[in-house]
Amino acid sequence: MSDLLDELADVALNALHQAYAPYSKFRVGAAVRMDGQTFDGVNVEVASYPLSVCAERNAVAAGIAKNGRTLEAVAVATEASPPSAPCGACRQVLAEFAADPSRVRVIAVNDRGERREWTLAQLLPDAFRGTDLP
Ligand code: THU
Repeated sequence: MSDLLDELADVALNALHQAYAPYSKFRVGAAVRMDGQTFDGVNVEVASYPLSVCAERNAVAAGIAKNGRTLEAVAVATEASPPSAPCGACRQVLAEFAADPSRVRVIAVNDRGERREWTLAQLLPDAFRGTDLP
């Protein structure tokens, strides 16, 4: 585990406590590293369930708002065992900002110290990307 991933794991685990998940009770914290800066996000649920937004996408949005453009690494924190991987929709959004998905590391952690790790390319092989568009 690199220092960067350790740092992101801590940020994601801290963010988890701010999750707004009154319906599912499934709290998620995320941390992304974009252009050398770290941004966090949590899942935000609304009574009209489909309008809820995942932690990972909120973290990316926070980074974009501060001029982050290139994704370097991601941590997702939950209270699940084994730690939950990012959902499919979030994988697609993460891939949007990855220069090379095979070099973007993604870790999933939980509050009892369990970890799983992949590259973004492993989580979303053969991704559809902007370069596919004419
Ligand atoms: N959730 C995330 O925040 N990230 C994921 O990758 C998977 C799911 C949230 C959405 C919803 O608020 C709750 O977890 C249960 O699905």
